[in-house]
Amino acid sequence: MSKEKVQIFDTTLRDGEQVPGCKLNTEQKLIIAKRLDELGVDVIEAGFPISSPGDFKSVVEISKVVKNATVCGLTRSVRKDIEVAAEAIKGAVRPRIHTGIGTSESHIKYKFKTTPEDIIERAVAAVKYAKSFVEDVEFYAEDAGRTDNEFLARVCEAVIKAGATVLNIPDTTGYCLPEEYGAKIKYLKENVTGIDRAILSCHCHNDLGLATANSIAGVINGARQIECTINGIGERAGNTSLEEVVMIMRQHPNLGIDTGINSKLLYDTSRMVSEHMGMMVQPNKAIVGANAFAHSSGIHQDGVIKNRETYEIIDPAEVGVNESSIVLTARSGRAALAYRAKKVGYELTKLQLDKVYEEFLTFADTKKEVLDQDIHQIIEISKIDIKV
Ligand code: KIV
Ligand code: ZN
Repeated sequence: MSKEKVQIFDTTLRDGEQVPGCKLNTEQKLIIAKRLDELGVDVIEAGFPISSPGDFKSVVEISKVVKNATVCGLTRSVRKDIEVAAEAIKGAVRPRIHTGIGTSESHIKYKFKTTPEDIIERAVAAVKYAKSFVEDVEFYAEDAGRTDNEFLARVCEAVIKAGATVLNIPDTTGYCLPEEYGAKIKYLKENVTGIDRAILSCHCHNDLGLATANSIAGVINGARQIECTINGIGERAGNTSLEEVVMIMRQHPNLGIDTGINSKLLYDTSRMVSEHMGMMVQPNKAIVGANAFAHSSGIHQDGVIKNRETYEIIDPAEVGVNESSIVLTARSGRAALAYRAKKVGYELTKLQLDKVYEEFLTFADTKKEVLDQDIHQIIEISKIDIKV
């Protein structure tokens, strides 16, 4: 079955880098941008050029080195922002300006202290102005997650007429439920005149832990771009995690959608971003966490040793992890102990294994994890006659 492509828009260097303590210098941003290009992302949001001279410089340099991906700069619906972004990305092979404005009631009332009509006028003016610099203009309706669908549709229709090529529908506050977010995308698909001329994009935050689920609900309902970050880093609880959405589409071929990402680079890219940003990856993080392919309970270990598929839905090699690991703890069984003992050179008979396992349990109760060097010690304590 031929699959439809979902574009991956990576915002690690913009929304991801906004996180306190994650600041990167230009050199680090260039290393990450090159890697994202190799990984196969379709768009790299390189920064918010007007925000600081350092960010402007980074966007200029990234634009020069990225060969395949579109390079995008963020702006508000402000002429000066757009001029500065256009200048920063002008060296890119495929430049894009990402402009927008808040569309929810609270943004209109409290942030802009204006009217819905004025918001539409500003949005249209920003898109038209951006269009005078580049062909590819993406529009974001900030806080679309909490924006009334009818008004959102009017905004989308107006900016498409003004020339927007991509419509970003951000759940800025991570508020939506997957059904709600999916229905929003469906509503726009069905009610916006000219929608076929633009790509709908999901940009979901993770305040309720639903960013990935919402993005997938979005593409199921017709969106064809997901905005995400490596390791899901981003404001507050973060953004949609790139590795999660990529592997969900890969693992569920029935969805009929896929990305152009080289998944074998996912693990290494995750570590690279984590090291540069000084932001540790939680061990139980899906796909790239240290425990994502580690098995420690006896029942699971026995199954995985017999056949990996019993407790693993992804071949670790697919995401660049060498192999699944069998971690020895006091919850491990004989099968796991025999497996790990064999790896360090001991072929145990059933009787020997019974003896060693007794010693192993006593030892394992005193430690969080039994390591290779501990196995040698346990075999020695067991006093069995063993050929190495
Ligand atoms: O979360 C958000 O709404 C954003 C926009 C600026 C695209 O990051
Ligand atoms: Zn965001």
